[in-house]
Order: sequence, then C-alpha cells, then structure tokens
Amino acid sequence: MPIHATDHGWVLETTTTAYALGLNRSGLLAHRYWGPRLPDLSDYPPAPDPAFWSFNNVGHLTPEEFPGYEDVKFIDPCLKLTFADGVRDVVLRFDSAEIIAEPTPELRIHLRDTAYPLHVQLHYRAHERYDLIERWASVTNHDNAPVTIERIWSAQWHLPPGEHYRLSYLTGRHVDEFHLRREPLLPGLKVLESRRITTSHHANPWFAVDRGDATEENGELWYGALAWSGNWKLVAETTDFGSTRVSLGLNDWDFAWRLNPGETLTTPGCFAGYSSEGFGGASRRLHDLVRETLLPHGTAIHKVLYNSWEATEFDVDEPSQIALAELAAEMGVELFVVDDGWFHRRDNDRAALGDWWPDARKFPRGLGPLIERVNALGMEFGLWIEPEMVNPDSELYRAHPDWTIHFPTRTPTMGRNQLILNFAREDVQDHVLGMLDRLLADHKITFIKWDMNRNVSQPGWPNAPGDPRELWVRYVHGLYRVWGTLRKRHPHVVWQSCSGGGGRADLGILRLADQIWVSDNTEPTARLAIQEGFSQIFPASTMESWVTDMGPAHLPLAFRFHVSMCGVLGVGGHLLKWDAAKRAEAARWIARYKELRHLVQLGDLYRLRSPQAHPLSALQYMAKDKSEGVLFAFRTHLPLNTLLPPISLRGLDPTARYTVEGFEGARSGLAWMRSGLMLELGDFESTVRHIRRV
Ligand code: DGJ
Repeated sequence: MPIHATDHGWVLETTTTAYALGLNRSGLLAHRYWGPRLPDLSDYPPAPDPAFWSFNNVGHLTPEEFPGYEDVKFIDPCLKLTFADGVRDVVLRFDSAEIIAEPTPELRIHLRDTAYPLHVQLHYRAHERYDLIERWASVTNHDNAPVTIERIWSAQWHLPPGEHYRLSYLTGRHVDEFHLRREPLLPGLKVLESRRITTSHHANPWFAVDRGDATEENGELWYGALAWSGNWKLVAETTDFGSTRVSLGLNDWDFAWRLNPGETLTTPGCFAGYSSEGFGGASRRLHDLVRETLLPHGTAIHKVLYNSWEATEFDVDEPSQIALAELAAEMGVELFVVDDGWFHRRDNDRAALGDWWPDARKFPRGLGPLIERVNALGMEFGLWIEPEMVNPDSELYRAHPDWTIHFPTRTPTMGRNQLILNFAREDVQDHVLGMLDRLLADHKITFIKWDMNRNVSQPGWPNAPGDPRELWVRYVHGLYRVWGTLRKRHPHVVWQSCSGGGGRADLGILRLADQIWVSDNTEPTARLAIQEGFSQIFPASTMESWVTDMGPAHLPLAFRFHVSMCGVLGVGGHLLKWDAAKRAEAARWIARYKELRHLVQLGDLYRLRSPQAHPLSALQYMAKDKSEGVLFAFRTHLPLNTLLPPISLRGLDPTARYTVEGFEGARSGLAWMRSGLMLELGDFESTVRHIRRV
C-alpha cells in the first residue's frame, strides 16, 4: 500500500517519489515534502510551524494544502465563498482522514468549517507506477441555505522552500499552438488561464517548475496538468519568504456556483509529479499514465487515416469521396474520414451546423453506399461533426433560437458565422445526444472527429436554474455527458478531439477521445515545433498528424511523411492531384510507418534535439523492453558549410549491442549514447532509422 498514516500525518509513496502532508501545531493541514522517495517513513519532515511576524501570521506562512480565504492570509486561496448570511470567509479545520485501497489507493481528508455545516473533502490518489499524484476536492453544503462558491481549485502544489525557480509552460494561438516558454519565477503571481469555454489554443493547463538547471534528461522538476476541458486557471505564486506554489483548477473568472442545501460540487482532477530525470522523464510518466489509465482504447494501435478536408473542403459528394477513397486504399490507408460538408445543406461555413443528417443533394442514397464502398476497399469509415454549434441558418436554430449561449438584449457576435449551443441545458444535451446516437446507430462508423470552431462571447444563460455563471462549468459537464454517453453506447468508435486544431487538448478530453488534432497548421517545418510542445504532455498515440500539400512545394514528400510519422500518421493531401509516382512513394512511407508504429505509438519518447531551438532536430522512440527503437532527424535551414553535430541516442541498454539502420556493424548501447552517430542531411532533408538490439 503506497499510502501511510504516521505520527506526523500522511505519506503517499510512488515507485520513486513521495508526497507528505500533515497537521502543524496550529491545526493547519500543511504540506511537508515532495521529492525523491526516502528510505524510512520517519525521514519525511514534520509539518512546518512558521513563527508569527507582525504583518504575516502563521496562516499566511504555512504551506497549506487547501487554504480557504480567511484570517491574515494573503496568498491565493483554493476556496472562496459567501455564506447565505453574507459571511465571506471559510475556516477549514481537520476533521478526519481515511485511506481507501481500491481501485487506486486514495487518501481522503475531511475538513469542516468551524462555524457552518460546510464539508470539504480532499482526495489524493497515488498512481504508483507513474510517479504521479492525482488531487481533487469536493465541497458539500449541509446547511439549509445556499452557499455561493466564487472560487474552487483542484490543488495547490508547494515546491520545496527555496528561490530561483523557473516555470515552463505552453502558449500559442490558432495554427501555432504549443510553444514551450520558460521564465524565472520572481515574487508575485504568474497567471495562465482560459476564458474561452474550451481549454484553448493559447495556453494549456500544464506546468513544469525546476531550479533553472534541469535539462531534457537530467535534473529535478515538479510538474502537473489539469484534467479539464473548459475555463481553467494556473497561478504560480512566489513570495519573499522563499515559498513557491502552483495552484490549478477551474477559472474563477466570471464564475459563481450556488451550492444548495445537500449539494456537492466536485472539482476536476489535477495530476502532478516529481521527476529527477528532467523534462523527458516527466513527459514519459505522463505519456504512460495517459495511455494506460485515461484513453478509452488505451494502448490500441491507431490506423493510418485519410481525411479529405484539405482536398475537397465543403465540396463533398459520393463520387468525389469515392475517387479519393480508391486512391487512399491503394496507398495502404486503413481509415477514410469525410470531414465537414456532408450534412444537410452544408455548402459553406455560413449554414447548416445543427442539422446532422446527410445532405440529400450530395448523398442522394445517404451515406450507406459510400461507407460500403470504403469498406469494400478494405478501409473503415469515419466522419466529422461539430455538435456544440449552430448556424442561425439551420433548421435547428429556426426551431430553437433560445438554445444558444447569449444575452437576449445583445446582438450576438458570430465566430465563423456560428453560435454556441448551451450544452449546460439538459434539453440541448438530450437533443444532440439523440441525433448523434441515431447517426452512429444507422451507419457503420468507427471514427468520429468532434470539432469546435469558435470561442465564447456574451456568456448568457437566460432562465438559468441556478447562478447563470455556473455556465462555464455546467457546459463542460454537459459536453462530457453527451460525449461520454455516446462513447458508452458505441464503444468501438474512436473519437478525435479537434477545436480548430489543438484548442481542446487536455487530460480531461482524453478520457473520451483517443486522439487530438494538434493544429490546423500542417506545414511540416512549423509542425515540428508544435509537435514538440504537444509532446511535453501527450503521448504520440494521441497526436494525429497528416501529410498535406500545405507549405512550400520544395519540401520533399519524405520530409512531410517523416514529420507525420512521429505521431499517428494520416494523409490529407489532394490525392487526385498527386501523380502515380508520388502516390507510390506515399505507399512506401505508409508501409514503413506500419512497421514502426508500435514504437512510435507505445514506446518511450526521447527528445534528442529541440526543433524549437535548433534547425537540426531529432527524436527517438524506444520500446519499453529496449529491444528496438526508431530515430527521426530533421534539418530545416542551416548555413552552408555547417558541421552537423553527432546525435547521441538515449534509452538504450548500455551493455547490449545495437545496430542502427544505415550504419555498419553493431555497437554497445553506451557507445551509441556517448559518441552518437553522424548524419548527413542537407537543408529540408530528414531521416528515419530503425534501431535494433542484436
Ligand atoms: C477545423 C478543423 O481543424 C479542420 O481540420 C476542419 O475539420 C475544419 N474545421 C472543417 O470545418
């Protein structure tokens, strides 16, 4: 059992790390330790008891696990609320604790307010194999009057006391997501958030904090990610007392929740860990957790797909799709996906969202004959939907104009000519659920791309049963309900989460979707950097990556394929414009990918050289048993006469002997890792090399 109760409190131990908490002499639930696992339980320090100084009392100075807003505390609290009588602080004290063994060991701490019947439960799950702790909180109102919650976060994570911490995080925008940023944490608050109702392209609820010296494979860092697909907030707070904490949870921006008598509000989970193996070690832990515990289809190998969006856009019909499908099948594609444009009166982005049945002009016989032809060609069939949206020019909107998120007195702002359906409403959820359920029941569909192409504006919920600002959270609960129900009813379907590219990529959506459409930017040199940022959190088995026609024509097809082969390979180019030689080359790369994809999708990732930092970049995937791996290397532009540095492999068994495709003879793992290998690559050339233990 990895969770222990001792005289000093509780210790959660994972394979190599430990997290300790306990009560200090003032009765506050305080953080004690987070780092490498120590030999004895008595090695973990007791809860700190800071002294009282004029302006800053014990409450302010104690690293509390879940501080409420109260007392002389000016750090950012996890819980802030107003009781029915107007009292605006919450005084939480320890009540009891329990350790639950199954299914995943969990410590539950019960806190109670000292004057009101308000109960807070803190949950700590030890994901032992992955060296990760999962935390979340729930608050229950046992009073006979409602309480208004104004902030509730999932966790506050405390770094060991000290200075000179550095924060790594991801930012970006539509068509340019997942850029890795690093900056020192100085006293004050660093805030990252989404106010867009989705996770957003602009930042991701993930952090890594180190002492400024961690590298890809060495050094200590503390990292975490929130499993939530709506508005979130991350606050990294450093004080002049040498304390640093990172809080993560629901965004309190424009948020309020009326907690009625007897009701409970539960926060999303937040996963966090300590790594002594640098950023690479942290990513590998998260990748394993995602693949083995979150994804609906776990470690299933994903198929090579063709998506016709960039070829035909809205101009889809049965003959055009069959023509593409025939060429795709010849190339070895296993899954044919029809994107936007297939449904009732969808000719452009100005109409039809909401009317999810096949367009009778484009598919006079329905989708059945196309699906049959695709299946006869040996491929499975997939379809695009955008169920949270409605165009004003649609049958759905004409029947239910009140179903959108809106303020009735304001002119609605359009985004891509569409409005957002209020998924917080149960009637909206039921309608969409019914329509999509029929679509899946009536057709042989094994893959759905779930898209979401605008962010929120005028976040009104007319006639909301509770506080209308509950919208932000209830919308996501509604989304999870609709998607989760469909997933249960149609368990064979593989779902892809897309929001104009990577606008909804998070550990919450990965409980529903096995794959993520990382970016609408499929230009391969840009994609290298985007994929590297994405890989900080998500495994390659979730990273759908298509070879398209985007970007300069001089980029070799091999380069395009190699970039996409680093994830779940797809093709999105206009195959009717590809000549026979190009299609034959594509077929060779697809066959090659099928030989290597078990390594890419299920192996350990080593980022050898960063494309965000170097024009010569490389990454490697290794089988868990170290028997084989694959190396990818890319050169974009480097000035003439640049001497390329050797590439040192990683993750090999140092004493075993390996061959690397294209190099003479076997060498020890240590030799490949120490002296590395020299590649000859010109500008915009790339290579893929199979590594084998002999
Ligand atoms: C945005 C997606 O990211 C694209 O791949 C495509 O599906 C379009 N939407 C279709 O409207």
